[in-house]
Amino acid sequence: MPISIALHVIAAIIWVGGMFFAYMALRPAAAQVLEPPLRLALWVQVFKRFFFWVWLSIIIILATGYWMIFGFYGGFGSIGTHIHIMHGLGISMVLIFMHVFFGPYRRLRHAVVVEDYPEGGRRLSQIRTLVGINILLGLTIAAVTTAGRYFS
Ligand code: HEM
Repeated sequence: MPISIALHVIAAIIWVGGMFFAYMALRPAAAQVLEPPLRLALWVQVFKRFFFWVWLSIIIILATGYWMIFGFYGGFGSIGTHIHIMHGLGISMVLIFMHVFFGPYRRLRHAVVVEDYPEGGRRLSQIRTLVGINILLGLTIAAVTTAGRYFS
């Protein structure tokens, strides 16, 4: 259990912390400094590198999460409300990320290759909205999970 929860929390920090940095620091700086063609090319390179770690984090979060639920707690029947909330919101985050990866991110990459910058801009703003939602979900999970154990 100690190794699982440690790996679980590290993976969650990499994913949620990485999104927070991209949204709150890199995004406004790139918008201020770079013209759209360079800005879109930058984001494709950033996402290519960050999404590799997101996929790895998702595999670790799900593997350790289910291991803790079934291997340590003995199944969904014996976990607290805070873990049910984490499971539901966590799965929603994974589905939102998969939509981003196979939808607007794929189209953003193509738009940059064919130099269709208006299309690239549309896809980037779609990704920004979905990542914004995932940041709120991730921070909510962290708050509910850590505080929730004292209520259930
Ligand atoms: C990205 C979404 C997620 C985040 C940010 C997250 C975050 C956390 C954090 C911070 C803890 C430590 C809580 C503490 O020790 O007080 C934790 C524990 C845990 N997480 Fe997650 N988690 C996520 C997704 C999931 C998913 C999808 C599952 C189930 C498959 C899951 C199952 C668990 C379990 C069973 C624990 C142990 C709870 C306990 O012993 O009280 N988590 N998680």
